[in-house]
Amino acid sequence: MTVGDGQPERLDRFMGRANAIYYSMHDPFADFTTSPEISQVFGEIIGLWAAVSWQVLGRPDPVSLVEAGPGRGTLMADALRAVRRVMSDFSAALQVHLVETSPRLRAAQAVRVPEATWHDSLASVPTGPMILLANEFLDALPIRQFVRRGAGWTERFVVDGEWVELAVDAAEVPPRRAASEGDVVEVNEPARAFVGAVAERVVRDAGVALFLDYGPERSAVGDSLQALARKRPVDPLVQAGSADLTAHVDFADLAAVARGAGADVRGPVAQGPFLAALGLFQRTERLAQGRTAAEAAALMEAARRLAEPAAMGHLFKVMAVCSPSCPPLPGLA
Ligand SMILES: C[S@@+](CC[C@H](N)C(=O)[O-])C[C@H]1O[C@@H](n2cnc3c(N)ncnc32)[C@H](O)[C@@H]1O
Repeated sequence: MTVGDGQPERLDRFMGRANAIYYSMHDPFADFTTSPEISQVFGEIIGLWAAVSWQVLGRPDPVSLVEAGPGRGTLMADALRAVRRVMSDFSAALQVHLVETSPRLRAAQAVRVPEATWHDSLASVPTGPMILLANEFLDALPIRQFVRRGAGWTERFVVDGEWVELAVDAAEVPPRRAASEGDVVEVNEPARAFVGAVAERVVRDAGVALFLDYGPERSAVGDSLQALARKRPVDPLVQAGSADLTAHVDFADLAAVARGAGADVRGPVAQGPFLAALGLFQRTERLAQGRTAAEAAALMEAARRLAEPAAMGHLFKVMAVCSPSCPPLPGLA
C-alpha cells in the first residue's frame, strides 16, 4: 500500500513507514525469532563479552551499557543476569540505556529490564564511555534500491502495491563493481548514519559497539529485501505494516563509514565461530546438567542453531567498532 494518493513512494520511505506500523501494532516474535529468543546462553555470553570489553577499555565508571533495537529485552536481561553473577564491579559501574522507537516493545522491555532508561535515538544517550550492543537492529532500518538500466540507473519506488522505477542521478548510487543490466544496488542510509554516530562517540569518549546481523562479508549486488509474516516469506509490498521488512546488512560499507570517522573496526566474523570462541557449547553443556534428557537435547539443539553454518552460524556476522587502537576484543582478535 502506498500513502494513499497514488504517488510513488521511495522504497526507504515505504519501508520506514511499514516497519513503524509493524513494530507498533504487532508482536514481531510471532513472525520471526532472533538469537536471544532461541537460547538464553546467547545473551549471557554477549553480557560476558561486554564485561571483558569493559576491562579492555580500562574499567570506566560510570559506563553506559546501551542496546539498540532491544526487541523484548531478552538479550539485555540475560546479559545483566550473567554480569551480576561473575563481574559485580562492572555491574555496579553500568547504566542501562535502551534505544527503541516502538511503545509496544518498550513496555515488554520494561518488564525484563526495569532499571533501563529509554531513548528514541542515540543522540539522547548521555555522553561518556559506552558499550553498545545491537542484534538484528541494522537489518530493520530502511534501504534504498537502485537498478542498473542501460548506461544509467533507476531507483525503486512503490505505488499501489507495485514496483515502479524512476530515473535517478548516478551520483546517488553507491559505487559497486560489476553492476550489469538489471542488477540491484542497495544502500542503508540510516544504518550508515547510526554507525557513523557510534564511531564518532567511541572516538571522542572511548567505547565499543558490537553489531550482530545478517549479511555478506563483502558488499554485493542483488535484491535482499525480505518480508516475513507468521515465519513465512510474503510479498514485501502487499500491505504496509503487516509483515517485518528487513534487508541484508552491508558490513563492508558500514566498516568504511566507521573507519572514516576515525574508529577501529574488528571483524566482521561469522557468528558461529564467534559464539563458539566465547564458550557457547561449554556454557550450554553446564546449563543442561541436571535437566531431563529432552530439555538438555533442546538446549544443545538451540546452541547448534545459533552456530551451525547451515543455520545462523555463517550468514550472521559480528562486527565491533571501537576507540582507535583499542586492544584485542574477545572473539574478534
Ligand atoms: C528485529 S527486532 C530485533 C530485536 C532484538 N534485538 C532481538 O534480537 O530479539 C528490531 C528491533 O529494532 C527496533 N527498531 C526498529 N527500527 C528502529 C529505529 N529506527 N530506532 C530504534 N529502534 C528501532 C524494533 O522496534 C525492534 O526492537
